[in-house]
Amino acid sequence: MTEIVVLLKDVWKTYATSEGVVPVLRGVSMVAYRGELVGIHGPSGSGKTTLLRIVAGLERPDRGEVIVDGYNLNMLDDYGLAMYRNTVCSYIPQDFAVIDSLTVFENIEIPLILAGVSSETRIRKVMEVLEYVGLKGKARQKVARLSGGERQRVAIARALVTAPSVLLADEPTANLDWSNAIKVAELFLSIRKDFGTTVIIVTHDARLLEYVDRSMTLFEGTLKDISSPKATLSSTSSRY
Ligand SMILES: Nc1ncnc2c1ncn2[C@@H]1O[C@H](COP(=O)(O)OP(=O)(O)OP(=O)(O)O)[C@@H](O)[C@H]1O
Ligand SMILES: [Mg+2]
Repeated sequence: MTEIVVLLKDVWKTYATSEGVVPVLRGVSMVAYRGELVGIHGPSGSGKTTLLRIVAGLERPDRGEVIVDGYNLNMLDDYGLAMYRNTVCSYIPQDFAVIDSLTVFENIEIPLILAGVSSETRIRKVMEVLEYVGLKGKARQKVARLSGGERQRVAIARALVTAPSVLLADEPTANLDWSNAIKVAELFLSIRKDFGTTVIIVTHDARLLEYVDRSMTLFEGTLKDISSPKATLSSTSSRY
């Protein structure tokens, strides 16, 4: 059976700017299933980041409902949303938001410190996730000295270390060459298979959609062209 983990129902978002009111999302509805890799494609300015930030609980919609792993985000206050981001839904922003002056280990440890995890457990979890993303040997290195692909892996590891149900990645391959972009896409495929995580990536690079289970296009404020799940999906998670 397929289990819905992310549900968006008629989500609207408008920004007030000096040029007037700009409607960005105009009734977006979608679902994502447990252990599924969803790709959302759309031109620059189509509202991809806005949509992900709403699912991440970083922004509130003007109207509509967002329900993630049983949490209705409309019901959560700011503290609840902070807890939600640290336990249920991890968000990797477009610029990675890694801290250059800290080491790889220290960057990934941050969400565990915020969650009050003991030092001993933090070390174990950080080292496990570093091994998973292939950066074990770089634990003590300052992030400032890493390549673009390695920085993206640090950001993915930091998002993964809290074992979220949902992982959101905003343009995860925008600054990478194609061979590194494929490696990142393959890492997301492994994550959803190994941990049953629902992964949603947004991208303006249509080539990346070859690597996802299901793709959607954000155009003129609504989601269109929803492709049917690939056959591979049924063989990737024990829940299917
Ligand atoms: N805080 C804000 N205030 C006003 N307008 C905003 C705000 N955030 C986004 N917008 C506008 O909403 C629209 C969608 O922005 P968004 O960042 O979601 O697009 P995007 O699809 O992620 O673009 P890109 O591919 O360039 O990252 C744009 O026109 C943008 O200028
Ligand atoms: Mg964006």
